[in-house]
Amino acid sequence: MKQHYFDYAASTPMDTDVLAAMQPYLTTQFYNPSAEYLAAKEVRQALEHARTTVSRVLGTRPSEVYFTAGGTEANNMALQGIMRQYPDANVVVSAIEHSSVLEPAKLFDAQIAPVSSKGIIDLAALEKRIDEKTVLVSIMYANNEIGTVQPIRKIANFLQFVREERRKKGNKLPLFLHTDACQAANYLDLHVSRLGVDLMTLNGSKIYGPKQSGALYVRAGIVLQPLVLGGGQEHGLRSGTENVAGAVGFAAALQKTEKVKRDESDRLKQLRDNLISQLWVLTPNIKINGHEKLRLPNNIHVLIPDCDNERLVMELDERGIICAAGSACSASSEEPSHVLKAIGLSDKDAQSSIRITMGRGTTLKDTKTLAEVLTEVLQ
Ligand SMILES: Cc1ncc(COP(=O)(O)O)c(C=O)c1O
Repeated sequence: MKQHYFDYAASTPMDTDVLAAMQPYLTTQFYNPSAEYLAAKEVRQALEHARTTVSRVLGTRPSEVYFTAGGTEANNMALQGIMRQYPDANVVVSAIEHSSVLEPAKLFDAQIAPVSSKGIIDLAALEKRIDEKTVLVSIMYANNEIGTVQPIRKIANFLQFVREERRKKGNKLPLFLHTDACQAANYLDLHVSRLGVDLMTLNGSKIYGPKQSGALYVRAGIVLQPLVLGGGQEHGLRSGTENVAGAVGFAAALQKTEKVKRDESDRLKQLRDNLISQLWVLTPNIKINGHEKLRLPNNIHVLIPDCDNERLVMELDERGIICAAGSACSASSEEPSHVLKAIGLSDKDAQSSIRITMGRGTTLKDTKTLAEVLTEVLQ
């Protein structure tokens, strides 16, 4: 039976060019990049070359890029790294953040900013959550469940206004903007100065790179308290022998995704809109969760009234269609999704929604098969 994969938001297959770029650092070029001899120095060069590649995509200096073991770690480094230094301050996060932002935020005074019923941050409510004790605002660039894209530049502009007001009042507390861009990297602009962010999280597993790879951008001058202490690698922020193959793979994946970004976005947008139209014709009572326009080109989150999403996903799986009932980003959860709750869905509707996410391997034929099989299963 042919498999039709629709869960690219959970995991992407590794690009063969990425694997080829990593190969030497998993085999012949195994040396510790901190060692003194020439062979090791070449490995160090490869690591620094990867850093430069990432920094070019982000429009930063190489020294502002820290390699991590994925998005969860980068989010923790950002949130805990800042908040631990300001015990009396608060952190503002959106209600639909990934758990790797929400959970560390809860260790501190976390203020939760709501989103609209379409899953877009409510700017007026966000402004109300920010007070003179806020030191960090963390708003994800694109959501991993409903694919909504947040107005990061607008938020950055507002924070600049708050900083200026603070300065006038003599409040010396800094105010940083962090964004989790794990789901955005394939499709959206990652240039940090255009976005206006101070910190940004990326991971390799969503961009056809290796799992447990990623990076945190930290604007020069921002001090983070390290979570892992030891030999002082990554400028003291992340001790431990560097995962050179992972960093090289991550950089190659980011570079490749940047190259195909525009074409893939256009192609997937067409496939997505076409699939939504097909679904509407075949099952007219469905609803699309999230925003019609401000959403990732590869994401369809659909509410099929009265269906049991877990059962539906299993039935589709038996017929070769792979999609998601919830977010695979949390290892196991019986609870209805906090994202769907945040946009106002009842528990019942949340448990009747499925996530369909497409990627480089998705064809028009796959989407037609999905629409047909879904209709057959729902009959
Ligand atoms: C938006 C978002 N942030 C963070 C993560 C966590 O990344 P990782 O699995 O690389 O730790 C994920 C996915 O898993 C994600 O979708």
